[in-house]
Amino acid sequence: MEKYPNLKIITHPLISHNLSIIRDKNTPSDLFRTYLRKVCEILVFEATKNLPLKETEIETPISKTKVEKLKDNIEIYVALILRAGLIFSSPFEENVPNIKVQHLGMERDKTTKQPNHYYNKLPEKFDGDKEIYVYICDPMLATGGSAIDAIKLYVKDRNIPQKNVVFINLVCCEEGVQKIFSQFPDIHIISAAFDEKLNDDKFIVPGLGDAGDRIFNTFY
Ligand code: PRP
Repeated sequence: MEKYPNLKIITHPLISHNLSIIRDKNTPSDLFRTYLRKVCEILVFEATKNLPLKETEIETPISKTKVEKLKDNIEIYVALILRAGLIFSSPFEENVPNIKVQHLGMERDKTTKQPNHYYNKLPEKFDGDKEIYVYICDPMLATGGSAIDAIKLYVKDRNIPQKNVVFINLVCCEEGVQKIFSQFPDIHIISAAFDEKLNDDKFIVPGLGDAGDRIFNTFY
């Protein structure tokens, strides 16, 4: 997107089709999870395009050949913002080798719309000898409050370069995107949809509703 060079909205006919099912309020929780995971998988491949490779030589059953593998001295962190971010768990585990998965417990206060933190077991600092790549996951980017708090934990508190941090979501909107880039201009954001706006209750319009409640079927 021209206005935000580090924002990439991934378009694909299958993403559009799957989103049509995900957005529909009549889609039951089990199907919602299934289709969400399908889109997450595509986003995981896009988000990890920045991983560095090294050339090496192997032998196929036929001949020697040069191949490319992920570099050895890297560490890949996947940060799942609870609860809804858990949907990215298997797409990452099944496709990206040697990930370290971290859980960040945050719940947006219904009145203030600010995230309350309830879980975080990040180490004080990360291994200084390794190149670190961080993928922060949450299906929704609304006001940006939760995403910014998560990004701060890596960039401000643990000195991870912004350029090595990707925030992955399914649906975003201008308010959240603008807020993230105003504080972290070199972060990358990957999304499947840039929606119209937030409503008075700070829900994305048209959005897909409350992702956490729809994933875990917790309407009570
Ligand atoms: C939702 C969503 C994000 C956050 C987005 O989570 O999954 O984490 O709100 O809003 P923001 O951009 O304005 O911070 P919620 O707090 O409802 O928790 P849940 O995933 O447990 O349902």
